[in-house]
Parts: sequence; structure tokens; C-alpha cells
Amino acid sequence: MSKKNVRVGIIGAGGIGQYHIKCLLPVEGAEVIAAADVNEQMLEQVKKEFGIEKTFKHWKDMLKLKGLDAVCVCTPNKLHYQPTVDALNAGKHVLVEKPMAMNAREAEKMVQAAKKNKKLLQIAFQWRFAPSAQFLKKQYDEGVFGDVCYVRVQALRRRGIPNWGVFGRKELQGGGPMIDIGVHLLEMAHYIVGSPKPTSARGACYTYMGNKKSDVVCPWPNWDYKTYTVEDLAVGFMTFDNGMTLTIESSFVAHIEKDIFNVQVMGTKGGGTYDPAKIYTDMNGYMMNVEPSYVGDEVGFNFKMRHFIECIRDGKECLAPGEEGLVVQKMLDAIYKSAELGREVKIK
Ligand SMILES: NC(=O)c1ccc[n+]([C@@H]2O[C@H](COP(=O)([O-])OP(=O)(O)OC[C@H]3O[C@@H](n4cnc5c(N)ncnc54)[C@H](O)[C@@H]3O)[C@@H](O)[C@H]2O)c1
Repeated sequence: MSKKNVRVGIIGAGGIGQYHIKCLLPVEGAEVIAAADVNEQMLEQVKKEFGIEKTFKHWKDMLKLKGLDAVCVCTPNKLHYQPTVDALNAGKHVLVEKPMAMNAREAEKMVQAAKKNKKLLQIAFQWRFAPSAQFLKKQYDEGVFGDVCYVRVQALRRRGIPNWGVFGRKELQGGGPMIDIGVHLLEMAHYIVGSPKPTSARGACYTYMGNKKSDVVCPWPNWDYKTYTVEDLAVGFMTFDNGMTLTIESSFVAHIEKDIFNVQVMGTKGGGTYDPAKIYTDMNGYMMNVEPSYVGDEVGFNFKMRHFIECIRDGKECLAPGEEGLVVQKMLDAIYKSAELGREVKIK
């Protein structure tokens, strides 16, 4: 018997919402049947470009649509929590964009709503789905690194404050580069090393450029400096219950030679990097740098979208469940809290 298609609705049909639609189109067993957005222009665009006829101004009306199985929540961070919980309570599966929520309090309630309604809650963490991340995870699982002592995580742009959307507004985003781009590399790093339990964090945040007018020639000029209330650079040091430590550096505007988006793992038996995908270890009396000749070529984002459908349709185990999103959110919260208090904070 052929399996039923998963019928998906999009909440927030802007930049990433439209990309979700595009990536779902070729996925076997997926159908995008509806979209909700407060901006009529976006609804017109998805009608024209993707032929989505059922459009709604409010997601609550879309959730009443007969035959809808799942939703993608693609609204700004402040609007991840409510549509997710509403959708789960309406019996829909949810794929919610990163970061999962504004803070761990919201994230916790989202996880509870998924449990209560026995529905899938997947977080849109595509970096862990990237071929190089899967390669490193496999090496970790096979014990190539031994015990992981330390992980270095970097999400650094030399000059890249988003000049669209609301990325500089703390009240709508929850924070700056740490919650926006640091989250990507942090979720991937944490996944690669087996998702250990974080126990404490020390963080620091600095704002020195985003809130000022700048005439410096750069690829994304003219950001909205008047409403900029987030950090430019955030750093964090975290401890875990297995003795591992992790540092993270994240910035929209770091004074460095060029952008760095990388994870470096250092263990008792070996180490590894995400970019390039490589292993550093000792073999037969020599220090060896081991490079895979091929790690696969499915783009992480596409894998993530396909996986969401396969989890619903085929009962696959989710690689980015709400529970892991919640732990990532606790780490982000702790870095920001520590930066605010000027001291280490414990993570429960
Ligand atoms: N996974 C990734 O690589 C990735 C990339 C970009 C953005 N994102 C995430 O996606 C989210 C959206 O970012 P974006 O760049 O698409 O922003 P965007 O501004 O392009 O799109 C957001 C859309 O949400 C709509 N919206 C706002 N309030 C709404 C409401 N009450 N009901 C319905 N729709 C509403 C807006 O009208 C807009 O069309 C953010 O959380 C961001 O962090 C993820």
C-alpha cells in the first residue's frame, strides 16, 4: 500500500519560508498546501511562484485546514514559540526554524507540547545534516577521538550585520550573532560530540559597531544602527558533565582576516575539523592527517527537509529533536546571562 503524502503548511512565508517550500517540492511524499503570513505580498509571491492557493493572514486559521499534517514555522524568533505550540495542540507535526525560541523557558514548553500531543517537533538545525558533520559524528561514534576534552566553535564574520529583517533588535531576536549564527555551529558541535549535558557557562558580549553609523565599504552596508540593541561579538566558555569543555566565538563584525565558520574537536586519541573535513591522529608510529576522499554531496538544508518528511511518513528517528534544541537554548541563555552578570552561571 502506498503511503499517504505529508501535507505541509508554512507559517511565515518570507525568505526562509519560501526556501522551505522550494526544498520540499522535490521531496517524495511531501506536499505544501498552504501558507500563512501577515504580509499579503508574501502570500501573493507563494501563490505565483509555487502555486499555493490556500493562504491565510493568521496561522490559527491555517491550522483549521482539513488534511493539514505538518507545519514549518519560519517567522522571526519572537514568533517561534506561539505558532509551534498552537500547531502541536492542533495535532500537527512541527519543523521550527533556528534558534528554537527566544529562551529556554519557551523551548521547554514547546517540548512539553510535543510530548503531550505525541507529535514530532524537529528543530531546523541544518548544519548537523551537512556531509562533513555526519562524517565527524561517525568518527566520534566509532571512538576515533577517544574522550573528547575540548571543542572550539567559531562563527565569525569579518563584516556582516544583516541589513534586512529584525536581526539587530533584541526584543524580537533574543540576541545578536550568538543566537543567530553561533547557534548553527553550536548545535553542530554539540551533536558531533554526542550531545553531552552542559553544566556551566561563562560568557562576555561586546557592542562597538552595530549601534553606530558606518561609512566603511562592506558587502552588507546600511544596517539599521538606530534600532541595533544586540551584541557585535560574543564569546563563551562552557563545561559539561563528562569533563569536556567548549569555547564559542561568534560575531557579525570581528576584526579578523576573513570569515571563519568552523568546529575543532580535540580528544585523547584524535582530533578533527569540520572545514576541512579531516582527522588528526597517530597511526602505526606516525602522526597522520586523514582526509576522506568523499563525504557525500547532499546539502544539509535539503537533507534536513527530507528528514522531516521521512520522520513523519516512515517513523525515522529524528536527528534534531526538540529536546536537543532545548539544551542548545540553555547554553545560549547561560552565555547571555553570564555576560550580563559578569560571572559564571550554572546550567540546570
Ligand atoms: N536555517 C537557516 O539557515 C535560516 C536562514 C535564515 C533565517 N532563518 C530563521 O528563519 C526565521 C525567519 O527569518 P527570515 O530571514 O526568513 O525573515 P523574513 O523577515 O524574510 O521572513 C519572516 C516572515 O515572517 C512573517 N511574519 C511576521 N509576523 C508574522 C505573523 N504574526 N504571522 C505570520 N507571519 C509573520 C513576515 O511577514 C515575513 O514574511 C528566523 O528565525 C531566522 O533565524 C534560518
